[in-house]
Amino acid sequence: MKLVKFQNEKEAGAYLGQMIIDIVKANPKAVLGLATGSTPIPAYQYIAEHKGDVSFKDVVTFNLDEYLDCSIQEQTYRQFMHDNLFSKIDIDEKNTHFPDRKELDAYDELIDRAGGIDIQVLGIGNNGHIGFNEPGTEADAKTHVVELTESTIQANKRFFNDDVSLVPTHAVTMGLGTIRKAKKIVLMATTKSKHDAIVKTLGGSFDKSCPASVLFDHQDTDIVVTNEVID
Ligand code: F6R
Repeated sequence: MKLVKFQNEKEAGAYLGQMIIDIVKANPKAVLGLATGSTPIPAYQYIAEHKGDVSFKDVVTFNLDEYLDCSIQEQTYRQFMHDNLFSKIDIDEKNTHFPDRKELDAYDELIDRAGGIDIQVLGIGNNGHIGFNEPGTEADAKTHVVELTESTIQANKRFFNDDVSLVPTHAVTMGLGTIRKAKKIVLMATTKSKHDAIVKTLGGSFDKSCPASVLFDHQDTDIVVTNEVID
């Protein structure tokens, strides 16, 4: 695990965005593992602005997670990715994948058949979750359905007119075992609220109370933070 520090989220986003552009430049058929949420947005913006003549038309993507039975279509993670990245590059949206309850094991198999994920982008929850793998998740979990915790529902209600009853109660997520198979992983944290989770992640062993700590022995993981997170 390598800790990489930046002054602000724009610089952190440029680091990750440029890394993705370079991977696609070197391998136009790269397989990208993508995340939603606020954290990766500066990286996606950077890609949109600095892609130059790099083509994403043969790139394949696998997103970390997706809501089940989402009441507001605009809040699905597929829509988020369309708005924040896919519509700004020349990717073929047929090559973009999101997990679904009908194909749980099939999602892991599809990733394997695509040759595995070259780079997995991760944000982190205040409680250390990655994807929707909440505290207590097993290290070898594959893609699975999760019931969202009360704290996640509360955190997400801002996207659902502040109405808890509109927030989906279940989602599908890549498991910790699925995530750990990625060849390279970049986990980003850019707000102070992530401090405790990042300290635990860097703790040097797998602590089930902080799912991200499962990355402690991964062969190529960058933990990218701003000064706000760790001085
Ligand atoms: C998103 C995801 C989540 C977020 C995490 C942090 O696909 O899987 O684990 O990365 O909740 O969210 P933000 O970036 O909004 O703080």
